[in-house]
Amino acid sequence: MVTESATELSSPALVLDGVHAYYGHSHILHGVSLRLEEGRLLALLGRNGAGKTTTIMSIAGLLTPREGAIRMFGRSIQRLAPEFIARAGVRLVPQGRRIFPSLTVQENLAVAEQRREGKSPWSFERVYQLFPRLRERHRQGAGLLSGGEQQMLAIGRALMGNPKVLLMDEPSEGLAPLIVAEVGRAIDQIKREGLSIILVEQNFKLALDLADDVVVINTGRIAYAGTAAAVRAENELVTQHLGVF
Ligand SMILES: Nc1ncnc2c1ncn2[C@@H]1O[C@H](COP(=O)(O)OP(=O)(O)OP(=O)(O)O)[C@@H](O)[C@H]1O
Ligand SMILES: [Mg+2]
Repeated sequence: MVTESATELSSPALVLDGVHAYYGHSHILHGVSLRLEEGRLLALLGRNGAGKTTTIMSIAGLLTPREGAIRMFGRSIQRLAPEFIARAGVRLVPQGRRIFPSLTVQENLAVAEQRREGKSPWSFERVYQLFPRLRERHRQGAGLLSGGEQQMLAIGRALMGNPKVLLMDEPSEGLAPLIVAEVGRAIDQIKREGLSIILVEQNFKLALDLADDVVVINTGRIAYAGTAAAVRAENELVTQHLGVF
């Protein structure tokens, strides 16, 4: 066990190494490799259908890669069932939010709660501090919340699992600009807690404001990888890869 914790200390939060993923016969990811260092936020960018969600699903174990390795803090996770990957400390804020509409806000948070040995910084109280609107509505049915509030709840649910690695799939999708700014501030605060985060975004500006590192994926292949600082300095280079922004 001593060797395991030594590996854990020295290894990146997440490494994907030559990942190939398929839906049936459709070959979607063609050898995706990327690295998320502990405590950093990596923005995963790309056009519609580029393979961002497929990458996130492969990490979360909702899709099993046919080839390649995925390691979390040095531990292979690519063959584990989703519940074991979640238990190991990966939490997903899925695209399209997917909260339980018939449960109240507080019940949605309660069913997602997982305490972790050693470090469990997140609780109802901390989530309500992050999103005061959720505290105001904690007894309301989640199906009655606005889109922005549902997104906050989806993020709150992921945090209640006290993750080591947080995967967020397009949290700004379909939200009004003021709400996007509010969600962006919350993500920034979460990052300051030292969480390691992959943020999938179509909102290039939001992603660049929050990211330490940037990866662009194009038709299932990595087209660019660099620091956010380099992208800010050489904006055109990346917009070429992205096209749509
Ligand atoms: N369940 C599925 N079965 C078959 N093909 C799929 C399935 N889900 C996605 N695809 C295909 O896989 C490719 C990658 O899709 P993916 O959802 O990963 O893209 P994305 O980058 O997340 O796009 P978006 O920005 O629209 O969410 C697309 O060509 C898509 O049509
Ligand atoms: Mg997607």
